[in-house]
Amino acid sequence: MTNLGGYQNEIYLQGLGGQLPIFTTDATALEAVARERFESGPFGYVEGGAGSGATVLANREAFDRWRIVPRMLTDATQRDLSTTVLGTSMVAPVMLGPVGVQSIVHADGELATARAAASLGVPMVLSTASSHTIEEVAESNGDGQRWFQLYWPNDNEVTVSILSRAKAAGFSVLVVTLDTWTLAWRTRDLDGAYLPFIRGIGTAIPFSDPAFRAGLAATPEDDPTAAILHWIPMFTGTDKRWDQLPFLREHWDGPIVLKGIQHVDDARRAGDAGMDGIVVSNHGGRQVDGAVGSLDVLPEIAAAVGDRMAVLFDSGIRTGADVVKALALGARAVLLGRPYVYGLGLGGEDGVRHVVRSLLADLDLTVGLSGHRTVTELDSGVLRRG
Ligand SMILES: Cc1cc2nc3c(=O)[nH]c(=O)nc-3n(C[C@H](O)[C@H](O)[C@H](O)COP(=O)(O)O)c2cc1C
Repeated sequence: MTNLGGYQNEIYLQGLGGQLPIFTTDATALEAVARERFESGPFGYVEGGAGSGATVLANREAFDRWRIVPRMLTDATQRDLSTTVLGTSMVAPVMLGPVGVQSIVHADGELATARAAASLGVPMVLSTASSHTIEEVAESNGDGQRWFQLYWPNDNEVTVSILSRAKAAGFSVLVVTLDTWTLAWRTRDLDGAYLPFIRGIGTAIPFSDPAFRAGLAATPEDDPTAAILHWIPMFTGTDKRWDQLPFLREHWDGPIVLKGIQHVDDARRAGDAGMDGIVVSNHGGRQVDGAVGSLDVLPEIAAAVGDRMAVLFDSGIRTGADVVKALALGARAVLLGRPYVYGLGLGGEDGVRHVVRSLLADLDLTVGLSGHRTVTELDSGVLRRG
């Protein structure tokens, strides 16, 4: 049993010695702090959504439509939020979601995230668009729990090579992102003509990959531009089809999770295809402008497939209450996105740790004060339509 809420006491006690938290404990306020401190290109890349930003907004609004109904005198003083998803144990049903190009906000990028995650018993999902190699991140993550997110390259040899590296480096679950086979119309990035990949950021994994390098006329060190232009259409570029999923099963010895599911029929199809899980996600509103809020589709999807697959959730998680709502509506765990990236930019490894500890403490206290001791107690009876 871990006292996640204890971070609160730690902060107050440190305050007696005049020490304040390194930055705000309020994840909904992090964006404003980051806006002040980040360079405009990286800030826009992290904060921005597709088109008008309507889906970013819809993701948050969806949480507001649900309210927690607290219960009293339930003996919730001692709590245990730990859980296991697809063989991965975690202190609470919270993981660090796959976020690429983390070095745009801090030089240590994914290495800092990996260290912070391991120190807290929180699993991380490493993006294919990482600014550090699979092996470097694994080393920083040590005996932490780690999953690998695949942007599925059009080149089968490169795909197989990346998968085998991830497996060898101790990544236990494969997360295949389906919703980003081409980049959406992202107006923030377009207005600043800012795309990290084209600047060679977020290419550490292909550039260190023997199969990718074998397809180049010159090494990425000698001709980075040619290597970048070879990679970009390979790793986005082509929509995949359901009948291609067996290829991944053949080359990945472990659970496979499809990320980016928003329609109940797609969730069923993932189950029919023998997938082990899905992430109900709209990529934080970064892909389809005007799309439905991710939490709005979670209940019907969880009801349809929750008994045969691990249903995970992301897009809009900011507070402990958000996590409670997602779990109560059928998610087994949630993935954190932008908040920890702001933390990384504001304070490196310590910044990520602060954001994650704040969320876990908030979650722990919210679960307890709502009258619950474990996450298995959280079902739709905990909520009312707001
Ligand atoms: C800067 C940034 C980069 C991202 N990169 C990836 C990525 O490489 N792979 C991926 O599957 N999802 C990526 N995502 C999406 C996240 O995994 C997650 O779905 C999203 O951040 C959730 O929304 P939220 O941040 O509003 O909570 C990225 C998100 C952001 C903000």
